Amino acid sequence: MIRIAFFDTKSFDRVPFDTFGKQYEVEYVFFESRLNEETAQLAKGFDGVCAFVNDPVNKKIIDILYENGVRLLLLRSAGFNHVDIKAAFGKIHVYRVPAYSPYAIAEHAMALLLTANRRIHKAYIRTREYNFSLNELMGVDLHEKVIGVVGTGKIGKVFVNICKGFGMHVLAYDKYPDPNLDVEYTELDDLFMRSDFISLHCPLTDENRYMIDSSAIQKMKKGVGIINTSRGGLVKGEDLLEGIKQRHIGFVCLDVYEEEGDIFFEDKSGHILDDDVLRNLIAMPNVIVTSHQAFLTREALNNIAETTTKNAVDYFNGGSNQNEICYHCTDIKNCRKARKEKCF
Ligand code: NAI
Repeated sequence: MIRIAFFDTKSFDRVPFDTFGKQYEVEYVFFESRLNEETAQLAKGFDGVCAFVNDPVNKKIIDILYENGVRLLLLRSAGFNHVDIKAAFGKIHVYRVPAYSPYAIAEHAMALLLTANRRIHKAYIRTREYNFSLNELMGVDLHEKVIGVVGTGKIGKVFVNICKGFGMHVLAYDKYPDPNLDVEYTELDDLFMRSDFISLHCPLTDENRYMIDSSAIQKMKKGVGIINTSRGGLVKGEDLLEGIKQRHIGFVCLDVYEEEGDIFFEDKSGHILDDDVLRNLIAMPNVIVTSHQAFLTREALNNIAETTTKNAVDYFNGGSNQNEICYHCTDIKNCRKARKEKCF
């Protein structure tokens, strides 16, 4: 039996992970605390650890895990920008779940766009108080509007199709455009200038941090709607706030936020939120924040649990697995995975 210390457990994790654990002979021991420098010691004696998307797995944590005999880190997320991949190399093998349901995220992005455009979030609150006024609830037809999609990978492609279903014109920007995708690819600045709505679906990297800042916002159409279900660091929160105050941005939908780490996934009601930018964003009538829930569908959770469990089994069976990641992965010449070997 492979034993995994499972950190940052949420109520929705236990059933799928227990189910697939039993099927593949992996025992998950669930800890509610996040994986951090204090809790990393709990992993002693386990065969591996499983971390969530906001557990910052830095060099120090990697060293503590390594000293405690851990050689396997299972990420139950697609993104891995929260892990110091370079520090892990040679010590701890890192696996992720590259795809679990692009539909979950793409559909959530469209749900946000529809909600913000048609002010459903306002109408919901009003009618609960028997306020049936229509003032300030007007949206626009999505039909024939221009949507700018940044990143046309798995999620971006599903989102493109959803938008086409609404009769929207899709502009796209990707560092590596897909020649088989039926969209109008363009430069990022052109996308900023021409889009009525912009939705982000690319990973966060050092080069695209703050892709949307004040200078990008100034290039956008007045009244633009911005949807970010990708990573918080792609957008500069202060600049977003400024763009809203200037009435330049029409609405903002955020499922991710740069400083979400200590806030999202927690019940902070009754507490004073120290983050002024997030507090001010939430206070705006044309901002919708969901707390990194785009992935949260039954299908996605089952796929996450099954792939994570299989990743653990593959590691101990010694086979190569395309879900292993290391900092050589982008360098095809040095990528051992391409030769069907483990990363180190
Ligand atoms: P993917 O790897 O299939 O696609 C990413 C696309 O972005 C690729 O086409 C790539 O060429 C492109 N890209 C890379 N760097 C770029 C740049 N600087 N500018 C423009 N395009 C660039 O990834 P997938 O599965 O579509 O996921 C996209 C992102 O969605 C993830 O990186 C993650 O940050 C986010 N995500 C959010 C979730 C949520 O619950 N809110 C859940 C899962 C993923």
